[in-house]
Amino acid sequence: KGLKLYDPGYFNTAPVRSSISYIDGDEGILRYRGYPIEELAENCTFLEVAYLLIYGNLPSQRQLADLEFEVSQHSAVPQGLLDIIQSMPQDAHPSGAFGQYIYKSKQVRDKQIFRILGQAPTIAANAFLRTSGKPPVLPSNNFSYAENVLYMLDSMGNKSYKPNPRLARVLDIIFILHAEHEMNCSTAAARHLASSGVDVYAAISGAVGALYGPLHGGATDAVSKMLSEIGTVENIPDFIQCVKNKKRRLSGFGHRVYKTYDPRAKVVRKLAYEVFSIVGKDPLIEVAAALEKAALSDEYFVKRKLYPNVDFYSGLVYRAMGIPPQFIAVPRMAGYLAHWLESLDDPDTKIMRPQQVYTGVWLRHYAPVK
Ligand code: CMC
Repeated sequence: KGLKLYDPGYFNTAPVRSSISYIDGDEGILRYRGYPIEELAENCTFLEVAYLLIYGNLPSQRQLADLEFEVSQHSAVPQGLLDIIQSMPQDAHPSGAFGQYIYKSKQVRDKQIFRILGQAPTIAANAFLRTSGKPPVLPSNNFSYAENVLYMLDSMGNKSYKPNPRLARVLDIIFILHAEHEMNCSTAAARHLASSGVDVYAAISGAVGALYGPLHGGATDAVSKMLSEIGTVENIPDFIQCVKNKKRRLSGFGHRVYKTYDPRAKVVRKLAYEVFSIVGKDPLIEVAAALEKAALSDEYFVKRKLYPNVDFYSGLVYRAMGIPPQFIAVPRMAGYLAHWLESLDDPDTKIMRPQQVYTGVWLRHYAPVK
C-alpha cells in the first residue's frame, strides 16, 4: 500500500516541475520566466508578456507584431455562441447564476442537484442528436432515468415508443458502475474548482472537460476505435507488439489504483453478452476477448500489473445499445455532486493551491523589444 499524506488544499504537495514563474512568498519576489514582475509591468504590453509566458522568451518585434495580428483576427465567435449568450437571463451572474447562494441554503443546493441530475441526460442526448443531424427530443415523465435515455436517443419523438426493459436495466447498471470513483482526474478537478467557491455548475463543467480525455473517460471511445482498427483476431499480435514498443497504449488497460482486474470491468464484460443476446452480437467482442487474453498472458502486461479497466468493455456495450460514449459523464454527475457537497460541509476544506518545483531561468533583465 502506498503512503498517503493528508494534505488539505495541497499546502505541502508539488505535483509538477515548472519553468514558467517563480514565487518567493517570504521575500515578495515574483518572476515570469526569470524576469522580475516589476520590470515587465513597467516596460511590456500584455501580449508581449503573454508571448513570454507561452513561448518561453520575450518576442522579437516581428513575433510580437504577428501575435498582435493573429489575436485580433481571431476575436470573433460563431453566431451560435452569441445566440446562446443572448438566450441567458439578463440578471444572471456573468460567470454563474447561483454562486452567491451555495453556502446558505439546502433548498438551493437540492435544486441544483435535481437540475444537474435531471438535465444531464437531456443535454447529452440532445447534443448527440444535434451532431447526428436529428431533431431534438425532450424527456418524458413516463419513463425511468435509464429508459428516458433510450427514449430520447431512439424514439425520434414517437410517443408510443417503449424502451426495452432489459436494455434499460443494463444501462442503469452501467450508470451505477460509472457513478463514482474517488479522486479520479475529473472528480479531483471538480473538487479543485469547488475549493475556490465557484458554483456547482462551473465545478462540474470543468470536471466534464477533464473526463473527456482518452486516458480517463474518453478511453471508452478510444477502446471502440482501437478494436475497430484491429478489426480481426489475426491482427492482435502485431498490435500487442506495437504497444510493447511504446508506439501505442492498449486503451482500456491499466489503472493508477487497480493493480488487478478492475471489479467494474468484470460486471461490464458480463453485461456485454447480455446486450448482445438482445441486439445481436458485435463481432468486435471476439477481438476484445482475444486481446484481453493475449495481454493477460504477456510478460509486458503481467510485469506492470496492467489489467482491463471499466472502459475495456463499456465502449462495446454503449455502441451496441446506440449510446454515445460521452454518456459516461451522465452518471458521474452523482459522484461530482457528492464530492461538491462533501467539500462544502468539510471544515478542513481549503482552496486547493498545490506547490511546484521551479526549474526555469533564475533571473534576467528586460531589454526593450526594439
Ligand atoms: N498500455 C500500454 N502500456 C501501459 C498502459 C497501457 N494501457 N498503461 C500503463 N502502461 C505502462 C506504461 O507505459 C509504463 O511502462 P514503463 O514502466 O515501461 O514506463 C507503466 O505501464 C506504468 O504506466 P503509467 O503511465 O506510469 O501509469 P499511470 O498510473 O500514470 O497511468 C493510466 C494510468 C490509466 C493513465 C494508464 O494505465 C493508461 O494510459 N491506460 C490506457 C487508458 C485507459 O484505459 N484509461 C482509463 C482508465 S480507467 C477509468 C478512468 O480513470 O477514467
